[in-house]
Amino acid sequence: MSEVIPEFSQNANNMRKSVIRELLKLTQQPNIISFAGGLPAPETFPVHDLEEATQQVYKKSAVAALQYGATEGENPLKAELIKYERSRGIQVEKGNLLITSASQQALDMMPKIFLDPGDCVLAERPTYLGAIQAIQSYQGKIIGIPSSADNDGFDMVEMGKRYERAKAYGEKVKYIYVIPDFQNPSGICWSLEKRKALLDFAYREKLFVVEDAPYREIRFMGESIPSIYELDQKGKNEGNVICLKTFSKILAPGTRVGWILAREDIIQKLVIAKQAIDLCTSPFMQYVIAEYLSMGKLDALIQATRDNYREKRNFMLKMLDKYMPKRFDLTWTKPEGGLFLWISLPHYIDTEKMFYRAVEKNVAYVIGSAFYFDEAELNCMRINFSYSSFEQIEEGVKRLASVIQDEIDAHESGPRGQTCPEGIC
Ligand SMILES: Cc1ncc(COP(=O)(O)O)c(C=O)c1O
Repeated sequence: MSEVIPEFSQNANNMRKSVIRELLKLTQQPNIISFAGGLPAPETFPVHDLEEATQQVYKKSAVAALQYGATEGENPLKAELIKYERSRGIQVEKGNLLITSASQQALDMMPKIFLDPGDCVLAERPTYLGAIQAIQSYQGKIIGIPSSADNDGFDMVEMGKRYERAKAYGEKVKYIYVIPDFQNPSGICWSLEKRKALLDFAYREKLFVVEDAPYREIRFMGESIPSIYELDQKGKNEGNVICLKTFSKILAPGTRVGWILAREDIIQKLVIAKQAIDLCTSPFMQYVIAEYLSMGKLDALIQATRDNYREKRNFMLKMLDKYMPKRFDLTWTKPEGGLFLWISLPHYIDTEKMFYRAVEKNVAYVIGSAFYFDEAELNCMRINFSYSSFEQIEEGVKRLASVIQDEIDAHESGPRGQTCPEGIC
């Protein structure tokens, strides 16, 4: 938590520094193999196609692209996105779309339009740090819901209990925030059953569901499961799902362009909120992306990205099997999509303390506690497999395994291990 300065607003004093960004600063040294960032593989960026698209924008629509634009977004991009969504079975009209400066901006707008100080959001525990920061900066509270034993979404029984308890204490729950496809950080993908159960609960309790879907397209194995937004469209169609999409993981994060799908009245409120933030998302970038989409190459790019990440994920799993200490209490997820693995370590290892030793050995990860907004679990970490080369994955896992082995050895040979009276260390 950063220092409280009385002159700052309560909102500003509530803003937390990003632990990830602070720790990432330590990983800038040249020899570090960093599994910390959530960076897409640079080799997937369609550099030449984007160059071509940019030239076309200069030729065809330079003045419009260089001018201020409508807050809702530029028409050529909206038209392309309507085609894109329809090709995936989602029916949207222009009024259901808002172009954003990528999903992080959308995440900031959710508490901005829904929360009064003290209002609550139900969210997965752990969840994406950027969403936690956004909610807390508007003095929102997060009620954490653990995932089920099957790791297929919320533990619905626990959710019901926590929701009822919050209501009994007079708390106002305003929306549910979930990342159903390849969650950041855990990699969990929600089952169809859980998606439907959540939607039914949201209908019953008249709650909005904010479905954050940056990794939805990055499924590299298994069957695709309908999004909650789609389930609502094909179900009661109450329009209580707000879906956040982005070009960051399917094209390039430097574009900083995303979009929101929602009911028209919600889009209109978001437009007013966005006017005060940035007037509009860069029209120039919107034109470039619209031009790129009109080339018809995005689907092939997404497929190539999936192929790339499948290979890297498989390789990382192989390296973990090869190098990690073999123990029942050292496990990792095997996601079918996304960019991350989640590693759980023996209970006595604090990954924040271990982080500095890992950096000394030139390897980095994100400490698990960064993704908790309540009592943090300390013995876990998130590692990214999309960014590093195969050589770096092997060497990085080898280094990480040796840091973890050192921790285990220190614990097992340390005074606590020898003298623990209950024999439970
Ligand atoms: C779950 C989730 N939501 C939103 C974002 C923000 O993405 P962007 O602002 O690049 O679209 C990220 C970034 O990694 C993320 O993991």
